[in-house]
Amino acid sequence: TERVLTGITTTGTPHLGNYVGAIRPAIRASQAPGVESFFFLADYHALIKCDDPARIERSRLEIAATWLAAGLDTKRVTFYRQSDIPETPELTWLLTCVTSKGQMNRAHAYKASVDANVAAGEDPDANITMGLYSYPILMAADILLFNAHRVPVGRDQVQHIEMARDVAQRFNHLFGNGRELFVLPNAEVEEEVATLPGLDGRKMSKSYDNTIPLFEGGAKGLKDAVARIVTDSRLPGEPKDPDGSSLVTIYDAFANADQRAQMRADLRAGLGWGDAKQRTVELIESQLGPMRARYEELMAHPERVEDALMEGAAKARAVATPLLRELREAVGLRKMV
Ligand code: TYM
Repeated sequence: TERVLTGITTTGTPHLGNYVGAIRPAIRASQAPGVESFFFLADYHALIKCDDPARIERSRLEIAATWLAAGLDTKRVTFYRQSDIPETPELTWLLTCVTSKGQMNRAHAYKASVDANVAAGEDPDANITMGLYSYPILMAADILLFNAHRVPVGRDQVQHIEMARDVAQRFNHLFGNGRELFVLPNAEVEEEVATLPGLDGRKMSKSYDNTIPLFEGGAKGLKDAVARIVTDSRLPGEPKDPDGSSLVTIYDAFANADQRAQMRADLRAGLGWGDAKQRTVELIESQLGPMRARYEELMAHPERVEDALMEGAAKARAVATPLLRELREAVGLRKMV
């Protein structure tokens, strides 16, 4: 069997980028025969960016309800909360001890914070926590603890998975004694939707405040958000260039080949941006509408979500505990009985 694993950080409301970049491909992968899947809520990661407990709790419920509403089948998928798995921080420490500081210096998220500090004329490491600095090691532990082969993600996470591979390789070399203690994971990125743009054309991201929420705000919220996608100022009747338009990229993420070709042809022939937006809302709503109904039902019954997560935690730990026992032994810590 092949293992598929992915997680979402619980700091905000799930948006279209999370859906097309991670949730949709992950659920599709989980439906294939011979696949074992592990999908989780990365709430330890949330602590890196957020010191508002209420927000983390709210986000965790929203993200969990989103996965379930989007079709995750808890019988096929091990679905859990990262912080219910104490083996994760324990493995993080084992990996921390074989990860070079130089490699962490090259991590995008850390480098972006340093660059921002330098640009602001501050100390390069101002306000950078050790949590942010070693974020990729925690993520490597998430992946390696379940020996995942495939990790469906958007483009922004690829570097982290390469780092997880490197750490796994080093660990195998140091402690494997010829055995592969860890599987080397591969990032799985869907090219067309690897970086879904947001309202302003930059990557759709919680940190840019340019997201289109998946379910929150209802059908009206979706319509209002799509209305705010920035387009050029060409008027109806004028030919438009579909390439490089965020609206078209977002439309494409939900469209089949015929629909994509039609939208391009119509824009070139002068379709108004307003009409193109209307068509986009209808297409997205036809796919998300039925899921939104399930989402709202789950948001009204958080205890159902909690039950699913507790069951998932038990299944996840049944996999994690034996592996960790083996690892503790491999590095020379006390054998657990
Ligand atoms: P996070 O929470 O920032 O994003 C969750 C997933 O959504 C994808 N994504 C996008 N894909 C396409 N276009 C976009 N605009 C877009 N925005 C977000 C992300 O690439 C990601 O796949 N560190 C991770 C969470 C994590 C994780 C893991 C993922 C923790 N441990 C282990 C995989 C495996 C994160 O913060 O993703």
